[in-house]
Amino acid sequence: MKNLTIGLFGFGVVGEGIYQVLQDKPGLNCQIKKICIKDISKRRNGPAAFFTDDASEILNDPEINVVVELINDATVAFQLVKKALQSGKSVVSANKKMIAENHSKLIRLQAQHKVSLLYEAAVCGSIPIIRNLEEYFDNDMLSQVSGIVNGSTNYILTKMASGQKSYAEALKEAQSSGFAESDPTLDVNGTDAVHKLSIIALHAFGKFVDHKQILSKGITALSAADFQFAKEKGLKIKLLANATTTKNGANEQHHAVFPTFVKAESTLSQVDNEYNGVLVGSSLADEQFLYGKGAGRFPTASAVLSDISALRYNYKYEFRKGTSTASKTDNLSFGTYYIGFDKDEKIDLLIFSKVHEQYSNGKRAYVIGDIKNEHLKKIDFWKKDSISIIAFGFNL
Ligand code: HSE
Repeated sequence: MKNLTIGLFGFGVVGEGIYQVLQDKPGLNCQIKKICIKDISKRRNGPAAFFTDDASEILNDPEINVVVELINDATVAFQLVKKALQSGKSVVSANKKMIAENHSKLIRLQAQHKVSLLYEAAVCGSIPIIRNLEEYFDNDMLSQVSGIVNGSTNYILTKMASGQKSYAEALKEAQSSGFAESDPTLDVNGTDAVHKLSIIALHAFGKFVDHKQILSKGITALSAADFQFAKEKGLKIKLLANATTTKNGANEQHHAVFPTFVKAESTLSQVDNEYNGVLVGSSLADEQFLYGKGAGRFPTASAVLSDISALRYNYKYEFRKGTSTASKTDNLSFGTYYIGFDKDEKIDLLIFSKVHEQYSNGKRAYVIGDIKNEHLKKIDFWKKDSISIIAFGFNL
């Protein structure tokens, strides 16, 4: 078992969490040697001797064999992680944006320098989804990975649906609880879920998915009328990230992040507040469900700790399913969607292949119908802030 000497970048919600956890577990053979932070003048809960604002004190220290990267800025994070890997240090990161934006480069770097880059904490906080997809589901044909992968939006949707909090109040709480990103726009507009989905898709199906190509909409356009509709029909609205293969197998997939109606009795409907839940569909096992806290100091620190611990045994992702570029996108199949809008809004009904239901009360209107993936890409009025789009997570 390897002894690990750690250089930590970042001392925010998760950074401080992992520092506290490692202080409490001296038997793990892992010691933090240095912590690099942006603002050295800020008072921290730890001995001053640990802290520096000079990254080279970590990157150039031959004794430090593991870098734990927990900073906000994805561009700076990539430079630090790149240098760490090039210096022969293994890396643990929770930075989904940095990973999604640089996934292929990072994988090349870790292979080239014979080190390991682990990022369980980047996807679904405490849920061990990456390692499960990587190891356990290796031989089973996966058909779908679908779930709630952002804790902040799930927290907001839970509070709004129960009528306990307004959007603004719930968002504020998600921020003060340390669930939301420093820029919560990435949470609420669906980008954080898109980043996580692209990472999941590689480990599930062995194909890189360009995060910029993933169809998505967050929760900001949802209106009181949409929650009312859900309530009347016995449904809940969840922000779901979905990677689905078509009948042609893993080579052809559909990826999307949309607010989604789920039936009140469904598994995903029970996932509330900052919890995340992921359904894994496979040909042999049928459906399996992973559930746990998706955000917050200690849930996220637990995944970072698990990765650190795995490095003691030289664990690395093997990518045995492959790392080939761009899976073919399934453009032809369709889903059923609800589009809600103010009655004066113009919407292009040609987006629907088939309309199931139309309603207007003179103020607010909605149309429910089937939309082909290719039409969602070509006709994009639904991206406007004044229009809500909600997928149906079940067949109508
Ligand atoms: N902002 C993220 C979330 C943190 O709310 O899920 C965990 O990735």
